[in-house]
Amino acid sequence: MTLRSVVIGCGHYLPERILTNSDIEKIVDTTDDWIIERTGIQSRHIAAEGETTSMLATRAAERAIENAGCLATDIDLIVLATATPDYTFPSTATQVQAALGIHSGAAFDVQAVCSGFVYALTVADKFLISGSHKRALVIGAETFSRILDWTDRTTCVLFGDGAGAVVLEAQSGKGTLEDRGVLNTVLRSDGRHRDKLYVDGGPSTTGTSGHLRMEGREVFRHAVTCLAEVIEETFAQTGVSAQDIQWFVPHQANRRIIDATARKLNIDPAHVVVTVEKHGNTSAASIPLALSTACQDGRIKRGDLVLLEAMGGGFTWGAALVRW
Ligand code: UT7
Repeated sequence: MTLRSVVIGCGHYLPERILTNSDIEKIVDTTDDWIIERTGIQSRHIAAEGETTSMLATRAAERAIENAGCLATDIDLIVLATATPDYTFPSTATQVQAALGIHSGAAFDVQAVCSGFVYALTVADKFLISGSHKRALVIGAETFSRILDWTDRTTCVLFGDGAGAVVLEAQSGKGTLEDRGVLNTVLRSDGRHRDKLYVDGGPSTTGTSGHLRMEGREVFRHAVTCLAEVIEETFAQTGVSAQDIQWFVPHQANRRIIDATARKLNIDPAHVVVTVEKHGNTSAASIPLALSTACQDGRIKRGDLVLLEAMGGGFTWGAALVRW
């Protein structure tokens, strides 16, 4: 018998306030045309004053638990990916755990910036398939609006806030690619690229939370190469090909990166889930937001083979193959 981490529910939450490109035209020297042409983004959601990452995460988690048809107290593991925690400590995951009324099991954060959800899913999968835990909540939640430099047009137009979550349950499978659940994960990182995408503050450096800085063109160049490599590795490890995938759910940073990666790998554009136009780049939240959106509207169905990929600060990057 092989244990598999099967997705039994998903949910998401977006803050009420929508900031359009025309709204941003009033803040920095940019245009709706430039943002759409270079990124595909039309609008993004922004957390209200006092609305924290753990609040967004809790709303998404509640919806995922309801969708899974289980109780919050059935969850014995919470792995939350964020680069914008409520506090330096305690972890945002323990804030969510308390808000959900869960007082047992384990909860912790994972920090891999935009690759956070793929990292968190991988970590939770290792726990579940080891048999140590039964039901995991895997959350990606961010309030990137809080770490943006709203005078820097090269970055502030790109990001948004939101949260998405999935509930994973350890179920027995046959050990074949026909099993439901997480079938393969590949994680990579290379810390030499720190200066290309980072936040210029932190508790042990400046004592402030700092602002996001990015060499956009360089990140773009690496993203297409790294993502294609990690997906090819996934294909090589599993024997799956682009034609076998029902849904490609990439990290939503830039429409052009998504299109270029899909083109490079011969993935049919009709099988790509794109939410960047309405969500912007929500870092670790982008994949679970896209997953939950595509489940809600009926695109992703039980039994579909779904390929996830992400790349972010560090650099970190990775891919996961999941049968829904
Ligand atoms: O999620 C983590 C991973 N992050 C990413 O994947 C982001 C990767 N990078 C990108 O998505 C793109 O590089 C950007 C969207 C950030 C930028 O697009 P680009 O096509 O690479 O533009 P660029 O940086 O080469 O800038 C082109 C021009 C520059 O002007 P000059 O030097 O050619 O005169 C910029 O100053 O566009 C200018 N520019 C803007 N103009 C209007 C930069 N930002 C803006 C702006 N509005 N918001």
